[in-house]
Amino acid sequence: TEETLVLVKPDGVARGLTGEILARIEAKGYSLVDLRLVEPDRQRLERHYAEHAGKPFYEPLLEFMMSGPSVAIRVAGERVIEGFRSIAGTTDPTTAAPGTIRGDLGRDWGCRSQQNLVHGSDAPESAARELSIWFG
Ligand code: GTP
Ligand code: MG
Repeated sequence: TEETLVLVKPDGVARGLTGEILARIEAKGYSLVDLRLVEPDRQRLERHYAEHAGKPFYEPLLEFMMSGPSVAIRVAGERVIEGFRSIAGTTDPTTAAPGTIRGDLGRDWGCRSQQNLVHGSDAPESAARELSIWFG
């Protein structure tokens, strides 16, 4: 079976939504393999978000991700990379579909789509890379 990295981002932790998000992952039938509360430093975030370096939202995104702890979760299941992104919903929480984590629980807080509660790896290569960054 496949594994993915899920992050409950600082907004999700601060709003007390970690349990709700874990419940949705478990209700979908995925397994929690490992879980930790992390306060990432800039270096770790630069590695995690390397593909976004130089984009207009990059610096605000790193600042946001350093604003408080995140919960990093190693999640396992058949096609879990694709499956978690489906239950997370699209990037912008304002328009993410109802029924998804971002659609049900998120909205624009004046910072465009940055505070969108969760991260999920988008491909097997990124899952392997990101799991080593957060759990290595
Ligand atoms: P992740 O699961 O977090 O990787 O989300 P994603 O794959 O849906 O989005 P992407 O990898 O393209 O962007 C990574 C993160 O950068 C997003 O989750 C947002 O927090 C933030 N982000 C992406 N696009 C924008 C944008 O246009 N504006 C702002 N402010 N933030 C953005
Ligand atoms: Mg992404």
